Amino acid sequence: MERPYIFCHMMTSLDGKIMGNYMETPEGEAAGDVFYRIAFGKEPYYKHQGWLSGRVTTDDNFTFYETPDLDENAGPVPEGDFVAQPDADMYYVSVDPSGRLGWKNCTLTYEDTHAHVLEVLTGKASNAYKTFLRKLGISYIIVGKDALDYELTLEKLKKLFGIETLMLGGGGVLNWSFIQAGLCDELSLVITPSADGSSKTPTLFMTKEGLTIDRAVNFELEHLEAKDGGSIWLRYRVKK
Ligand SMILES: NC(=O)c1ccc[n+]([C@@H]2O[C@H](COP(=O)([O-])OP(=O)(O)OC[C@H]3O[C@@H](n4cnc5c(N)ncnc54)[C@H](OP(=O)(O)O)[C@@H]3O)[C@@H](O)[C@H]2O)c1
Repeated sequence: MERPYIFCHMMTSLDGKIMGNYMETPEGEAAGDVFYRIAFGKEPYYKHQGWLSGRVTTDDNFTFYETPDLDENAGPVPEGDFVAQPDADMYYVSVDPSGRLGWKNCTLTYEDTHAHVLEVLTGKASNAYKTFLRKLGISYIIVGKDALDYELTLEKLKKLFGIETLMLGGGGVLNWSFIQAGLCDELSLVITPSADGSSKTPTLFMTKEGLTIDRAVNFELEHLEAKDGGSIWLRYRVKK
């Protein structure tokens, strides 16, 4: 399969949480800066052309659970994928199988990183939703009938958008699905020396019923480095 190289890059608390109050502490903020610099800073360690995010992560950070403005009477869109921008420097690749996200724009800004939005849909997304994306100039690919076809997704990201290196960027459900499918090459983890003990926040990897199971995966340590604010940066190769 012709696919991009995939690294999962995440920040966690000491107890493996990817969200929560610990992020607001000075230690959490310092680790957040370390996290950003490694993948998006002026001289980043990783040089990727896109980052992949789950639907919940996108709603939490960019679309804020807004309902998309759909025209149910729109005429049928042409079959297949829609490539609005084939040569962006950076893509925000949004896994949204049913077409639920209420985008307002075809680009987004994360800190000082600008990206073209690229939606990953399945056959569950409606004609009205695809019309909505076309009107906004948002690219989309259709990969699978009811469930995401991982290999087809990655092949299309490389072939249609030239993505050679892809960051797997959370949340826990998305991360685990790609790792279990054997489609993640490397894990990059920034651990902050803080925790908040919440039992409600998601962790780095999470199973989802009907999508993934709790079969163990092992990792081989490649790098360990102390960073600002007492954080540590770990890099692992994902054992196949
Ligand atoms: N600390 C960090 O570095 C970091 C980074 C990223 C995110 N986060 C946080 O993580 C939290 C969200 O994590 P989460 O695990 O709850 O959710 P998530 O992984 O962001 O999103 C899960 C949803 O994405 C879709 N999805 C993901 N993988 C899929 C697959 N293989 N096939 C089909 N659909 C798939 C499904 O959408 P549908 O429900 O629409 O079917 C699924 O319910 C957010 O609060 C976010 O801020 C933290």
